[in-house]
Amino acid sequence: MKEQLEKIYASANEDLEKAKSINDLDEIRAKYLSRKGEFNEIKKNLKNLSDEDKRIVGSLANEITRKLETSIQEKHNEFYKKELDEKLSKERIDVTLPGKFIPRGKVHPITSTTNEIVASLQSLGFSVVPDALSPEVETEYFNFDMLNVPKDHPARDVQDTFYTLNAKNVVLRSQTSGAQIHVMEEQKPPIRVIAPGRVYRNENINARKNNFFHQIEGLYVDKDITFGDLKGVLNEFIRIYFGASRPTRFRSSFFPFTEPSAEVDVQCIMCEGKGCRTCSGTGWLEILGCGMVDPNVLRGVGIDPEIYTGFAFGMGVERLAMLKYAIDDIRLFFNNDVRFLKQF
Ligand code: DAH
Repeated sequence: MKEQLEKIYASANEDLEKAKSINDLDEIRAKYLSRKGEFNEIKKNLKNLSDEDKRIVGSLANEITRKLETSIQEKHNEFYKKELDEKLSKERIDVTLPGKFIPRGKVHPITSTTNEIVASLQSLGFSVVPDALSPEVETEYFNFDMLNVPKDHPARDVQDTFYTLNAKNVVLRSQTSGAQIHVMEEQKPPIRVIAPGRVYRNENINARKNNFFHQIEGLYVDKDITFGDLKGVLNEFIRIYFGASRPTRFRSSFFPFTEPSAEVDVQCIMCEGKGCRTCSGTGWLEILGCGMVDPNVLRGVGIDPEIYTGFAFGMGVERLAMLKYAIDDIRLFFNNDVRFLKQF
């Protein structure tokens, strides 16, 4: 048996001598050292020997296999290095070749404007409401009823608001103001939130109107909130957003959910107030509606208007983007013309 072992070892060494690649080594390993390999066959027959012989032959077999394993490993390292060197010299990379051009996408100007407005208002202490409190598909309850909008108000008309066919009273929201109700039904004052989102209106489309656009709603309810706070916050917002103060004016107005109400105009960037097509010759562009939250609205959500007051505002994202970047047609935002979008 000893001789048999020596013979196999000699033949394994011969094979090893002839081996030229890692593949050959794998074959040798399989032939001699695997479970079905030649050494194992011998080890299986050890049980027929006397204890003394078992010990001698067994330890010889172990020694030989260990030596063989070491030689195979050494050859393996040698071949590996050689194959790697060959590969490296053959597959050299020319780092001076021009790379593949991968055009980068960009953030849509409405998204980046929304982000800027949100960041400006966050810096003034407002936080963004969760999406669940500001859905695009609304019931009339949130979009109109709880905002003190009378049943016969023209805004409720199908000429102005998109109704769904699925259920009565379900609309595509015409304003983000419904988020105010969602928030006040969930939270107690102090409340200081903003809700950005898309709104829908059944409009004839032109340079200044689209049948969907974007608003950012704001709501601040606490003790002792005054119209002075509203003006202070909005003026500061305009300064932050435009990076410098711009001529603005508060114009008194009417909304069913605020009393008193106002609209804020910013001087037209296109004509610097001289009057042009974009501002219909007025020299001003309206950017938002606002006011002190109507006591009826507060009562509706169970907030006592004798203790708390608040202000609210809703600004038009497209308007603010047009004013910052001197864009004179709202439709440019939505026809996805790359020549336009590329500029942002
Ligand atoms: N929702 C109004 C609109 O879409 C804008 C608005 C006005 C929002 C006054 C307000 C507000 O929060 O207080 O025209």
